[in-house]
Amino acid sequence: MSGLIPDSFIEELLARSDIVELIERRVPLKRSGSEFQACCPFHDEKTPSFTVSPRKQFYHCFGCGAHGSAIGFLMQYEGLEFLDAVEDLARTAGLEVPRTGKQQPRIDTGVYDILQSCSKFYVEQLRHHPEAVEYLKGRGLSGEICRDFEIGFAPAGWDGVIKQLGTDNHHLDLLKQAGMLSEGNSGQYDKFRNRIMFPIHDRRGRVIAFGGRALSDDGPKYLNSPETALYHKGRELYGLYLARKRTSRLDNIIVVEGYMDVVALAQFGFKNVVATSGTATTDSQVELLFRAADTIVYCFDGDKAGRKAAWRALEATLPKLKEGLQAKFLFLPDGEDPDSMVRKHGETAFAQQIEGASPLSEFFFDHFTAMTDLGSLDGRAKFVEQARPYLEALPAGGFRDMMYSQLESRSFHKLNRHVQSPVIASATSDERGKPIQTRTPLRVLMAHLVQNPSLVKQLENVNEFNGPGNAEIQGIEIFRELVDFCNQRPNITTAQLIELWHGHPAMPHLEKLAVWHLPGDEDKQLQEFTDAANRIRLSWVEILLSRISNIMLQREEYRALQDRQLALKKQLEGKQD
Ligand code: UTP
Ligand code: MN
Repeated sequence: MSGLIPDSFIEELLARSDIVELIERRVPLKRSGSEFQACCPFHDEKTPSFTVSPRKQFYHCFGCGAHGSAIGFLMQYEGLEFLDAVEDLARTAGLEVPRTGKQQPRIDTGVYDILQSCSKFYVEQLRHHPEAVEYLKGRGLSGEICRDFEIGFAPAGWDGVIKQLGTDNHHLDLLKQAGMLSEGNSGQYDKFRNRIMFPIHDRRGRVIAFGGRALSDDGPKYLNSPETALYHKGRELYGLYLARKRTSRLDNIIVVEGYMDVVALAQFGFKNVVATSGTATTDSQVELLFRAADTIVYCFDGDKAGRKAAWRALEATLPKLKEGLQAKFLFLPDGEDPDSMVRKHGETAFAQQIEGASPLSEFFFDHFTAMTDLGSLDGRAKFVEQARPYLEALPAGGFRDMMYSQLESRSFHKLNRHVQSPVIASATSDERGKPIQTRTPLRVLMAHLVQNPSLVKQLENVNEFNGPGNAEIQGIEIFRELVDFCNQRPNITTAQLIELWHGHPAMPHLEKLAVWHLPGDEDKQLQEFTDAANRIRLSWVEILLSRISNIMLQREEYRALQDRQLALKKQLEGKQD
C-alpha cells in the first residue's frame, strides 16, 4: 500500500532484514529475555525504555512512544523519506527495489553523477580564481569551513561547465536535466557564471542543486537551481545533510534564511543550522526538521518580511506539534542577519539569543493581540474567532490544552473544545497526551493478532464472526479484515503487517495495539486470545437471543444458540478457576 513499491516487495524486504542487526549497528543493544533493550535514541533518558523485539521485528519506546519496523527506524533515525529508507534497507539486504507501473520514471543516476562532477569542478575553479577566494576571505570565511561546505566558484564565461562536462549530447542532456543550463537564441549556455557556488545536498549527501552568489552587485544577488526531478525546493533544507552527519539526534535545530548564515554559524561552532533558501517554510520541511530534533528555533529578521516569513513557518509548524516537540522564534534587530550578528557579537552572545528565543505560543498570541483591542468585548470576540481555528488544528495533547487555556484567559471566554474522534472507538488521553484505551475483548483479540499474526491458526470457527449479531460489535469488520490478511500470510511479522497496512484508515489504531504490553508466556497469551474470541462470540449470541422475538428464529436455531451460549460460558468460566 505504499504506492510506488509493490507490497510483496516490502514484505520480502522486511523478511530478509533483521531489525536487531540494523539497530545494533547504530544503538548498542542489551538482551533482556526474548527482547533487546537500550536507552532510547529518540529522547533523553537514563534508564532504558527502548525495546526491540526480534519476533515482531518491531521497536518500541515506552518512554516517548516511538515505534515501528526496520523501515520506520531508518526514517526516524536517519531522517529518510520512506522510499529512501526502503532503498537503504534493500541495499543492505542485497535486493533491487522494483517499481510498479509507470509512475515517476527512475532518475537517471547520471544526473546525480554530473551534479557531483559540477560540484568538484567548481571547487577546483576556486583555486584558480584568487578574486573568488578574496571575496570569501572578505566575508570572513575560513578555508576549512569552505571545504566542509564544498563551496566553489563558477567562472565567468558562458561555457565553463559545458566544455568540461557536456562533452557529448548525452552529457549535455544530463546537464540540462540537472538544471545547470540556460537556453537562449544562440543555444545553451552555463546557468551559473561568475558566482560563488553553494552545493545543496539531499539527505543522503548527494548534490542535487546549487545556489550561486554574485561577486558584485550587478544582476540578481543569488541564483538558484530550478526545480528538477531531483530538486524540489520546498522539500529540502540547505545544510541538513551536514548537520545530521555530525550527530543523528540534535538537541535543537536552527532555521535561518540564507546560505551565508548557515556557513557563518557553522564556522562559529553552530553545526545545527539549516536554511530555507529564501522560500516560505513548508509542511515537508517542518517534518524534516522534527525528524532531526525536538526543538526548532526559527531565526528570522525582525523586519516586516521576516515576521511574515515567521508566521508562515508557524502555520506550517502548528499541526505538527505533537507531544514533546516545540518551536521557538528569534527575531533579529533590523538590518542584521545571523551571519552579521555572530560576527559582530560572537558565539556566546548568539547562543544566549537562541537560548532566549520566544516560545511559539508567545509569538502566536502577540500576533493577534497586536491586531485587536482586547479592552473591548468586540475585540476579544474577534481575537477568539481568529485564533481558534489554529488551535483546532493542533494535535490533541498538553500543548493544545495549554494554548486553549491561554486563549481563554486572554479573552475571558470559556470555550468548548473539540476533540477529534479516533478510528473505531474512543481513546482518551492522560495528562501526558499518550493514548490510553480500555481493553475490550475485541481490542485484546486484535492486539494479540497484530503482535503475533500466526495466532490466527488457533482461531476456531472463524465464520462465526461473520454471522448476524456481529454487526452490533463496533470494529468487527476490521477484525475480519485482519483475520483474512493473517490467514493469507500466517508467518508474517508485526513489522510486515504494519507496513502492509500503511495508509489503511485503521492503521493508527493497529499501531497502538502493536505496542500494547501483553504480559505472560506463550500459553497465557494463547489463553487470553482464545478467551477474548469467546467473549465476542458470547456477546453476539446474547445479542441474538435477546432479539429473538424480532427475528423469529426457528426453534432449532434458538436451541442451537442457547447451546452455544452455554458452551461458551462454560469454556470461559472453566478457564477462570
Ligand atoms: P539574503 O538577502 O538575506 O542574503 O537572502 P544572505 O543569505 O544574507 O546573503 P549575503 O549575506 O547577502 O551574501 C536570504 C536567502 O534568500 C535567497 C538565498 O537563498 C539567500 O541565501 N535569495 C536571496 C535568493 O534566492 N535570491 C536573491 O536574489 C536573494
Ligand atoms: Mn547576509
